[in-house]
Amino acid sequence: MNKQIVLATHNKHKLREYREILAPLGYVIYSASDLNIDEEPEEVGTTYRENAYIKAKALRKMVKWPVIADDSGIEIKALGEHFPGVHSSRYAKSISDEYAVVGRHVIGLLKDAEDRSAEYHCCICLLEEEDSKPLYFEGICKGHILEERKGESGFGFDPIFHCDEANLDFGLCTEEEKNKVSHRAKALQRLMLYLTI
Ligand code: IMP
Repeated sequence: MNKQIVLATHNKHKLREYREILAPLGYVIYSASDLNIDEEPEEVGTTYRENAYIKAKALRKMVKWPVIADDSGIEIKALGEHFPGVHSSRYAKSISDEYAVVGRHVIGLLKDAEDRSAEYHCCICLLEEEDSKPLYFEGICKGHILEERKGESGFGFDPIFHCDEANLDFGLCTEEEKNKVSHRAKALQRLMLYLTI
């Protein structure tokens, strides 16, 4: 496959995570912003897969390279089954534009919760040509919501998330540590496996 890929995101944190993981394979990753593409389709899907495909499809029409798009979210058991899940970004915005405020709000909601478990989910859609069959690569990262915010690393919900598997606070750890175990890293490793065979 062509070694140039366009990533359907304007999120610089996500872009950095993708570049860090795919650069060793010789891939050059452009973001939609690098190509001056501002349009973003509405994420009307009800699953990570559907939303990742909607984003990949919309961007693939506008560029000449293969596209990857991801959709991700956090699922916090005490707030409901798969909630906020695919709605994570919108849920956060409905609380505040500042994730520090969102984090404190979520911690408040979990004040009396016995089960603080949470999972990050990520689904990557690879669309090589506009009419290719979309391919999906998924990853989950399990952990729990902290009782107070810790650190400022990462983005979004990271300062209130503890990854159980690696025993890491995502708000305190380095990007390198997060990139070994995160939902996005796991999905990306599956994509990398596909790209190298
Ligand atoms: P989207 O995939 O760009 O639609 O956004 C998913 C939302 O889920 C983000 O805006 C964050 O609120 C949350 N999220 C997804 N992945 C992460 C992560 O690695 N760290 C922190 N928050 C995340």
